[in-house]
Amino acid sequence: MRIQLLAILVLWVSAASAETALEAIDAHKHMGVATCSNSVCHGASQPFRDSDVMQNEFAIWQEFDPHAKAYQILEKPESRQIAQKLGLGDPTQAKVCLDCHTDNQPADHRGERFQISDGVGCEACHGGSELWLNSHADRSIAHADNLGKGMYATENPIKRAELCLSCHMGEKDRMITHRIMGAGHPRLSFELDTFTWLHPHYKIDAKWTKRKGEWNGVRDWAVGQGVAGENLLDLVLDPKAGWQGIFPELVLFDCHACHKLMQGKKWGPRQGTGLGPGVVRLNDSNLLMFRHVLAPVDKAAAQRVFEQTRALHRATTESREATFAAARTLRATIAEVLPKVAAYNYDAASLDVILASIIADGDRGEFRDFSSAEQVAMASQSVVVAFENDGKLDKDRAAKMHARLDGLYDVVKDENNYSMARFDSALKELRAAAP
Ligand code: HEC
Ligand code: HEC
Ligand code: HEC
Ligand code: HEC
Repeated sequence: MRIQLLAILVLWVSAASAETALEAIDAHKHMGVATCSNSVCHGASQPFRDSDVMQNEFAIWQEFDPHAKAYQILEKPESRQIAQKLGLGDPTQAKVCLDCHTDNQPADHRGERFQISDGVGCEACHGGSELWLNSHADRSIAHADNLGKGMYATENPIKRAELCLSCHMGEKDRMITHRIMGAGHPRLSFELDTFTWLHPHYKIDAKWTKRKGEWNGVRDWAVGQGVAGENLLDLVLDPKAGWQGIFPELVLFDCHACHKLMQGKKWGPRQGTGLGPGVVRLNDSNLLMFRHVLAPVDKAAAQRVFEQTRALHRATTESREATFAAARTLRATIAEVLPKVAAYNYDAASLDVILASIIADGDRGEFRDFSSAEQVAMASQSVVVAFENDGKLDKDRAAKMHARLDGLYDVVKDENNYSMARFDSALKELRAAAP
């Protein structure tokens, strides 16, 4: 079992650097959602009892998963207004919108039953099924064989994070720019573990574990932060994505550094940036969280990430070259420690170390920025649910912690009314309820 798990981990880590998520997803023809939705395939109305998977995935996706309606969003007045302000014409024809709001395959990659209006369908996440559509239903064929034929390893947290972030944060060929935000697009925010469980069409049980390895929500949260940090730095480093005109791409910066009232008296220092008042700062929320991720895994690495993030902030006030150099250094550090994070067994003790590390940051005033606070709220939820799933919370305590979590979420509900003091005290109450 141990050896098998190790083999899975090695596979995960080595697979992660080979090709980008988009290259993998787009490698083969996409046959269309209709090829998956037959009632004896994934279109059952109830879960099958003696199958490895539920087989009602299509019904769940169609009814509950917003991805099924992602294309229809583009037909709405909100989308037309955004597109009109950007001079894009019809948003259902605009590549920039289609790339994230559907499975935007080129004509020669669309199977007969493929429909662009199906939105973010099965193959947008599971990869083009041209070569594995027939074989994957055969139980005698191992999962690894399907992966070899182009099925995407959604179970691998590094690969899953890369996939989700390609739309939920954007990447160099699929950018959500500040111009798009300025035209009225909602701000994007993402946390791997929280988002994986908002509308699931899967469940993790003994059968799943046997085929795909252990599941650990805290580890997924941890990996998600690291991959998001890498993704941000890749965008900073990409001249096309990060720098056009005399300003850098503003979407990479903390929105609330610019978007707040001009009354003054709100500024306070943040050790994590080392910047003075009146300076635009990169959105470092994922980098900040990645330090907490590392707290139980590798304290020295956590300190290195802290220092290199500060150095990056400082470099942005110096020059583009200094910024690139600092971004490269930090990118290399994350890439180096990410495999260690993916292989780490986050247990009850490490969960407490994480909470303590987050709260120490709160005491130092690190959660002045709304986006960091939002990440902390999502992180705390993952951490508590992991406690629960591990059987480390009795029913009463779980109920108490969930109530405190609601309190924490309440503080980040409205970004325009965010108060750091309220957030810090909600965070302390949460910890006080922990075992
Ligand atoms: C980088 C990927 C990306 C691009 C590019 C993109 N979107 Fe989005 N869009 C998203 C994601 C992800 C969400 C959901 C955000 C969430 O709920 O967390 C979203 C949400 C929206 C919403 C709000 C949906 C709702 O349920 O209220 C609208 C409207 C929208 N997008 C329109 C557009 C239009 C029009 C374009 C083209 C100009 C576009 N988007 C380009 C990823 C993208
Ligand atoms: C937004 C991305 C996304 C979309 C869209 C999506 N899936 Fe999934 N799917 C996942 C993730 C993540 C998992 C859980 C990890 C895993 O089991 O690999 C999963 C798991 C599954 C599983 C369970 C696999 C197992 O081994 O237990 C099946 C079956 C499945 N999806 C089928 C579908 C079908 C059919 C559709 C379309 C109707 C679909 N998925 C659409 C992301 C997606
Ligand atoms: C091809 C682009 C794309 C990919 C890949 C993608 N998403 Fe999405 N996702 C979207 C868009 C667009 C929306 C908004 C749809 C809407 O509002 O109807 C969305 C919405 C969501 C929502 C609903 C958010 C809310 O506020 O309720 C969740 C949860 C989500 N995605 C999770 C994931 C996860 C987890 C993955 C990776 C396994 C993933 N997504 C991969 C484009 C994508
Ligand atoms: C460096 C400063 C800066 C940063 C950082 C920044 N913005 Fe802006 N934002 C601006 C400026 C300047 C405008 C243009 C105002 C105008 O057109 O009058 C603007 C306009 C907007 C608008 C349109 C407001 C309106 O209705 O006229 C939205 C929405 C917006 N930004 C969202 C965001 C989001 C979301 C982020 C973070 C991802 C962000 N901004 C980051 C400076 C910034």
